[in-house]
Amino acid sequence: MRHLAIIMDGNGRWAEARGLPRTEGHREGAKSVRRVLECCQRADIDYLTLYAFSVENWKRPKAEVDALMGLLALYLNEEEKNLHEQRVRLRVMGRRTDLSPVLLDRIEAVEKATAGYARQLILCLSYGGRTEIAAAAKAIAAAAKAGTLDPETIDERVLADYLYLPDVPDPDLIIRTSGELRLSNFLLWQAAYSELYVTDTLWPDFGQADFDAALASYAKRDRRFGTHR
Ligand code: IPE
Ligand code: IPE
Ligand code: MG
Repeated sequence: MRHLAIIMDGNGRWAEARGLPRTEGHREGAKSVRRVLECCQRADIDYLTLYAFSVENWKRPKAEVDALMGLLALYLNEEEKNLHEQRVRLRVMGRRTDLSPVLLDRIEAVEKATAGYARQLILCLSYGGRTEIAAAAKAIAAAAKAGTLDPETIDERVLADYLYLPDVPDPDLIIRTSGELRLSNFLLWQAAYSELYVTDTLWPDFGQADFDAALASYAKRDRRFGTHR
């Protein structure tokens, strides 16, 4: 498997089950991110994409949004050294203009510093699949209007080239934790033929055993891509 993507869900429920504030669940969830990155290193997976914050998540209470953004900044500060040690390239995908200038500066500094590494950790921040596709459509329309793109040539390949990270292959497997059976606006275009795996494990509890179970399930799949067998 080249590309694993994860919808990290269930932080709030993990905290609520312990009588803790939801933000404690997010704090604990950051530890799972570290664990899973190590699992991917050991399993030789080239791309790990994590859904960390959706465009819809801005509608949560301000205190929770602020806490999540604070944790992100903390994660970047604490992980930068580790990213270098593990030779992992950090990339952020989403509507960057939504992020605070301070956080964006930090992100871009880490992205630049790690740009030379082959293995990639892609964090989806203020990400929405529909937002991504709409932005691509807008950019395509602008190019057509400017005369640099012939509308007759627009096809799936051209549209994919206008998405946030066109060089990244589609995810082979998408894991969702906490038992929810939906994509919640994650990678709508790229997920066309991704295998799906849902576990009841809440994200802060996700570890090597869950990772192994997901990969074992994936190994048994018959990916047909619509072709007969
Ligand atoms: C996932 O956990 C983290 C984010 C969506 C930011 P949730 O905060 O959605 O946790 P639940 O789903 O309410 O338990
Ligand atoms: C999806 O989880 C977004 C992230 C994991 C960042 P949500 O908790 O926001 O999704 P819904 O509300 O259950 O669909
Ligand atoms: Mg949730």
